[in-house]
This record gives sequence, structure tokens and C-alpha cells, in this order.
Amino acid sequence: MDIKAYFSKKADVINKALDSYLSDKEPEILNKAMRYSVFAGGKRLRPVLMMAACEAFGGKSEDVLPFACAMEMIHTYSLIHDDLPAMDNDDLRRGIPTNHKVFGEDMAILAGDGLLSLAFETMADALMKYSDRRYIKAFKAIAAAAGTRGMVAGQTVDVISEGKEVDSKTLEYIHINKTSAMIRGAIEAGAYIAGAKDEDVKKLALAGEKTGLAFQIQDDILDVESTQEVLGKPVMSDIKNEKKTFVSMYGVEYSKNKVAEYSEQAIGIIDSLDCDGEVLKAIVSYLTDRKY
Ligand code: IPE
Ligand code: IPE
Ligand code: MG
Ligand code: MG
Ligand code: MG
Repeated sequence: MDIKAYFSKKADVINKALDSYLSDKEPEILNKAMRYSVFAGGKRLRPVLMMAACEAFGGKSEDVLPFACAMEMIHTYSLIHDDLPAMDNDDLRRGIPTNHKVFGEDMAILAGDGLLSLAFETMADALMKYSDRRYIKAFKAIAAAAGTRGMVAGQTVDVISEGKEVDSKTLEYIHINKTSAMIRGAIEAGAYIAGAKDEDVKKLALAGEKTGLAFQIQDDILDVESTQEVLGKPVMSDIKNEKKTFVSMYGVEYSKNKVAEYSEQAIGIIDSLDCDGEVLKAIVSYLTDRKY
């Protein structure tokens, strides 16, 4: 299947919906700062995964749209804050200067806050429209993925581990929380909205966790092997910040094997489920080989 065409078709729908959700005119500077990072590009991986998971269990991808957009808003906020001088201190994101470089640190913090809040308002609006329990489960999965038992927890341990010795358990904790959580949450939400059984969503969540691990290790490899032009963000950022990554702890060759191992595990889990997992599997393979 043509996974690139699938991505661009779904991304078009997501981008149109994001455009309408981000239509507040005031304060103008805040809206500008939020839109700047949301529409800077980005693979739209998490919303596309949500749609693919929904379709895999027989649902319609339109049904996840508010939740998919909320996920991308939360992801974009996490990137804006991740780039701040107090965190990774990076100057380029999605091929253009980072939010704080253009709007200042105060506005970058607020743009992130605004995106996070708008994500929850967007999901609340959807819940008022479709009160079915499936949507409430999706909402809960996304909230958990974003917060103190997910991305925020992982980012916390990521920053406090800079320059320190950490063990392999801690490294896995960082990756599973800062990156896998949002990928797992996206897939869980899509499957829930399609009406998948709880036990199937649980198995699929594990595939999301493995996919996230492969994805973050690949990100860490690209940080040392790619170029700023291709990636759209600085390279050697992890070395600059003395980050603990699979690459810094075990080297590039081991890391490449791990990417392959985790994606095979994810594909194996998807195969074991009673669903149409072809697109999901194609996305996992595509991510493994990605160059940016
Ligand atoms: C970047 O995520 C942050 C990580 C978890 C490595 P993406 O690689 O999905 O970034 P965009 O959305 O395409 O910019
Ligand atoms: C993931 O880690 C960041 C988030 C969860 C927001 P990185 O810090 O490695 O992400 P990049 O490389 O800046 O995109
Ligand atoms: Mg970071
Ligand atoms: Mg970073
Ligand atoms: Mg990185």
C-alpha cells in the first residue's frame, strides 16, 4: 500500500479541522504563536495513527477527528516547551525557527498552555455531542497519555537525567513515557471510538508502546546521523544536552537493531489481533525506515 499517500490524505483532513479549531482572533499574538507551530509542518503521526486504529476496528476516521486534532495540539505544545531554553534549548523545529525564537519565551510558554487547554476544550465539545462511553474512554486515554503518567512524566525524568548515569530501566522509562505514551494513547483512542473490546485495546496499547520505543530510538539515531536540512530540527542536540539515549548508552549499531526488534514486536502484536491491521503495520514499517 502507498503509505505516503495515506498520510497525506489523512493529514489534509486533520489540517482543515485544526484550521477551524484554531480560529480565535484574540489575543492576536497568542493565536499567531499557536498557529505558527501547528502549521509549521509535522508528520501528523499521532492523529493519523488514531484514524488508522479506528479504521482497523471497523470505525470511520471522521469520528475521531476532534480527538485526533486534540492529540496534535497536545503534541505541538509538548514540542514548543521541549525546545525552550529551560529544556532542550533548540532553535529550529519543523524546518523553521522555534516558537520562542520568534515570539519570545513568554509567548512560547503561553502558546503551549493555550494548545493544551484548547485540546481539552475540543474533546469536551465532542463529548457533549457524542456522549457514548466509547468517546469517554478515548478522552481518558488521551488525558493519561499527555500527563503525569505519560508524556509529562517522561519529560521530567528526561531533563533530570541530563549528564547523570542512568540504568537501562530508567532509560526505558523515559522513552516509554515521553514518546510511547502519546503514540499508545492515539492508538487506544482510535480503537475505543471504533468500539473495540477492552482486551483488544489493551493488546494494541502494547503495540503502541513498542512502536513508540522504536520511534524514539530512531529519533535518537537521526540526531547523530542526519542533517538539520533533512530533519528540520538541529542535529547533535542530545549530545549538547548530555541526554541519555540508546545511542549514547549503547551506540548506533545496537540502537538500529533495537528499532528493528521493537517494530517487529509491534507488528507481531497487531497480527495477533482480530482486526484489519494492514495500514497500522505499514505505518510501523514506514516509521522504522524514516529519514525525518
Ligand atoms: C518529535 O515528534 C518528538 C519525538 C517524540 C521524537 P515527531 O517526529 O512526530 O515530530 P513532528 O510532529 O513530525 O514535527
Ligand atoms: C521527545 O524527545 C520530546 C517530546 C516528548 C516533546 P526529544 O527532545 O528527543 O524530541 P526532539 O528531538 O526535540 O523532537
Ligand atoms: Mg527533549
Ligand atoms: Mg528536544
Ligand atoms: Mg530528539
